[in-house]
Amino acid sequence: MKIYKAKDYKDMSRKAANIISAQVIMKPNCVLGLATGSTPIGTYDQLVEWYIKGDLDFSEVTTVNLDEYKGLPRTNDQSYYYFMHQHLFDRVNIDPERTNVPNGMEPDAEKECGRYEELIRSLGGVDLQLLGLGHNGHIGFNEPGEAFEKETHCVDLTESTIEANKRFFASADDVPKQAYTMGIKTIMQAKKILIVVNGENKADIVERAFFGPVTPEVPASILQLHNDVTLVGDKAALAKI
Ligand code: GLP
Repeated sequence: MKIYKAKDYKDMSRKAANIISAQVIMKPNCVLGLATGSTPIGTYDQLVEWYIKGDLDFSEVTTVNLDEYKGLPRTNDQSYYYFMHQHLFDRVNIDPERTNVPNGMEPDAEKECGRYEELIRSLGGVDLQLLGLGHNGHIGFNEPGEAFEKETHCVDLTESTIEANKRFFASADDVPKQAYTMGIKTIMQAKKILIVVNGENKADIVERAFFGPVTPEVPASILQLHNDVTLVGDKAALAKI
């Protein structure tokens, strides 16, 4: 695993955006796996800045997002579809037809998860998967204790995830209780993985995930077994490693 220690959030974002840019420049028609959460927002801002300067072209890029809340319409500003349009898709020359987020409004979980997994396969897999890290070690919405072999599936969110995400909703009761997420198996099949972390409240989980035992209790720990992982974090998040 390559680890890049950044000075601060801005520097972490620039370093992560550099890695994504390199992928897009080397393979203009690449498949990018994208993530939501507060951590990658600065990375997307940096990519937009370089696009505006004329240094990046997304016209041939295809994207697949990790996850989506089940039951939230795309128009809800807390849906991950909305997030992606707000922070990246509507700000660069990406073809909307080539952007993919699980459809949270499809009530049939098996149907939607099967469709999504098949879509990823038909694209030839993900070239570079961007990930954030949940406080309990979740990646995408793969919560502790889930089998490593899973592909895209429907999950019940844990109390701690609902708690962590309630700041974005009027109350904890408004946070959806389920989500569709790429599984660990789907994530592990990406050719390259880029994980971004910032802030001192991630320091413990960074240590457990990347220097502790590989266990489903810490979903991100499986990344230790992937052969092309880059971790980019600010000083605070990497303080314990
Ligand atoms: C959510 C997302 C994850 C993300 C995590 C951490 O639960 N499903 O993909 O990594 O939050 O978010 P943050 O970056 O805001 O700490």
